[in-house]
Amino acid sequence: MKKIKKGIYWVGGIDWDLRNFHGYLTQRGSTYNSYLIVDEKIALIDNVKYYLAEEQIARISEIIDPQKIDYIIQNHIEMDHSGSLPNIKKLAPKAKIVASPKGVEGIPKHYKQNWDFLEVRSGETLNLGKRNLQFVQTPMVHWPDNMVSYCPEEKILFSNDAFGQHIASSERFDDEYPFNILMNEAAKYYANIVLPYSRQVKKALEVVSKLEIDTICPSHGLIWQKNIPEILTAYEKWSSNQTDKKALIIYDTMWNSTKKIAYAIQSAFDEKGIHNQMLNLQYNHISDIMTELLTAEYICVGSPTLNNNILPTVAAFLTYLKGLAPKDRIGLAFGSYGWGGQSVGIIEKELSACGFEMMDNIRLQYIPDEEEMQKVKEKIKNQIGGK
Ligand code: FEO
Repeated sequence: MKKIKKGIYWVGGIDWDLRNFHGYLTQRGSTYNSYLIVDEKIALIDNVKYYLAEEQIARISEIIDPQKIDYIIQNHIEMDHSGSLPNIKKLAPKAKIVASPKGVEGIPKHYKQNWDFLEVRSGETLNLGKRNLQFVQTPMVHWPDNMVSYCPEEKILFSNDAFGQHIASSERFDDEYPFNILMNEAAKYYANIVLPYSRQVKKALEVVSKLEIDTICPSHGLIWQKNIPEILTAYEKWSSNQTDKKALIIYDTMWNSTKKIAYAIQSAFDEKGIHNQMLNLQYNHISDIMTELLTAEYICVGSPTLNNNILPTVAAFLTYLKGLAPKDRIGLAFGSYGWGGQSVGIIEKELSACGFEMMDNIRLQYIPDEEEMQKVKEKIKNQIGGK
C-alpha cells in the first residue's frame, strides 16, 4: 500500500519476473497499478493480473475491508488489469463494476459472470462523496473499451495504459526513479503498445490538455507528478510521428556480405553527420529496435537471400514493424545474394507497405569488394540530406 494523497492509495501488484509481454521484452518487469479511493463511497480503480490477486487484496485489506468497496472502476478490460476482478468480486459482492459501453460488453465475455454493471460514457460523473470521478472514453488507447477517470477535486488522472511504463520497482513516484530510464521505458512502451493508435492518442491529449492535473496515475509503472510536462510533450511528439535526424541500420547476415553493406551504409550516414545505429537482429530484440525506431527518420533493413526469401529474423522484425505502423519514415532495402536475389525486393515491398518513402535499394552479388562498398557509400550519400 502507498498513499498518493489523503484517502487515495496505490494497491497494485509488482511483477518482478515479467520478461515477455506479448512479444515485448520487458527487462525491468512491470506493475499492474490499482488505486483505492476512500470517500463516503469506496472506489477501486483497475485491477491486476490474476496471479497477483492476493498481493492486491492484501494491500486493500491494510486500508479497508474489501467488502466495503462500492464501485470497481474498470478502465480497461485487458487481463493485465482485470485478471483479479473475479477474486475482488467474491470479496466485494455488492460492488458495481463501472465501465464504458464496450467494457460492459467485453467483461462478461471474459469472465462469464452475471455481475452488476454501471455503464458510463464520456462526460458522465460518479459522485463518491467529497470527490467525483469524471469519465472520458479513449477508444483504442489501447483497446476499444478504454476510458480514463479524472478526479477534479484531487487533480488526478487515472490514465490506464496511457503514460505507462513496464517497470517493476519499489518506488511509486517519478521523482524517486532515474529520469532517463523512466523516459526510455515510457518510449519503449509507446513504441511497442501505443504507436498504432497515435491518431486516437492525439484526440486523448486534446481532452487531457483541458484538465487541471497534478498527478497522472497510469496502470503500469511509476506515477507521474514531477515530470508531467515532459511526458505530455513526449506523447505529443510520438503521436505526431515526429522524428530526429537518425538512421537505423537493421540487418541479419549469413556470410557477412550483408553486414559489409550495412557498414558501408553506416559510413555514409556518418560522413553526412547523421546519428546512426547498427542493429544486428542476432543481438537486438525487436522491441528494443522499436524504441529506437520511434524517433528515427531513416529505416534501413537488410537481409541476404535464403531459399528465395529473407532470413527469419528479418521477417519477424518486418511483421512486427508493420503491425506497429510508424508513419512518415524514409526506408532503404539492402542485401547480398548468390543467385535468385529475392530478399531486397521482399524487404522493399514490406517497407513500402508501411507507407515509407523508399530510397534506391542496394543489392550486391556474393562478396562485395572495396570498390563496390565505396559505390554503396556514395549512392547513399547522394540520397540523404545532412552536411
Ligand atoms: Fe496494460 Fe491494454 O493493457
